[in-house]
Amino acid sequence: MSTIETGRLTIRPPVEEDRDSFVAMFTDEAFTVFSDGVHDVASANARFDGMLLLADAVPYAKQPVIERATAAIVGYTGVGTAVVDGLDRLEWGWRFVPEARGRGYATEATTALLAVADRFTDGELLCLIDPRNAASRRVADKVGFRWWKRIDWMDDPAEPTDLLIRTVGAGGPPLLTPTLG
Ligand SMILES: CC(C)(COP(=O)(O)OP(=O)(O)OC[C@H]1O[C@@H](n2cnc3c(N)ncnc32)[C@H](O)[C@@H]1OP(=O)(O)O)[C@@H](O)C(=O)NCCC(=O)NCCS
Repeated sequence: MSTIETGRLTIRPPVEEDRDSFVAMFTDEAFTVFSDGVHDVASANARFDGMLLLADAVPYAKQPVIERATAAIVGYTGVGTAVVDGLDRLEWGWRFVPEARGRGYATEATTALLAVADRFTDGELLCLIDPRNAASRRVADKVGFRWWKRIDWMDDPAEPTDLLIRTVGAGGPPLLTPTLG
């Protein structure tokens, strides 16, 4: 398993033993703000299954971020998937428990895992951000994403979404979701 250590954090691929922590986070309203909504236990488990599966195929897929001072999982960073303009693309996301926000953790963890992506592959990554989510947009700007365009998510004018992109490695076409399973 490839483990990354930054000044304050450990970032490593998810393992089955992380399931309870992630189900607790995915079923928590504060954790899931600016998302498709809070999960019930079944969909939280399904989401964690998806995380395990993608992490087997992509070394910079969503990974737990562990605060070394407390040994607690405080969030995640890394790619998931999103279909945009008919392409099933790798899409970067970050999310932290409320107590761990505002300390630079998202930037610290994401910078480290993006360096893995930069070494591993060449292409273009996507990031989707609610225009009202200033903190997330600030993280995106700090780690090298740039604004591409604004769309109505699922063609719903009530869901404006900013699309940002970042070159990975030497750059190239959009990075697509690999065949899983
Ligand atoms: C978005 C999120 C991951 C950021 O994590 P974090 O560890 O607090 O981020 P960082 O501390 O690395 O950076 C946040 C930056 O946003 C800035 N910021 C925070 N709140 C802000 C606000 N309301 N308006 C403008 N900037 C804001 C901070 O000052 C910081 O920038 P700076 O370094 O220039 O001072 C975290 O707030 C979170 O988990 N939010 C809920 C889930 C979520 O929205 N995920 C993203 C979905 S796209």
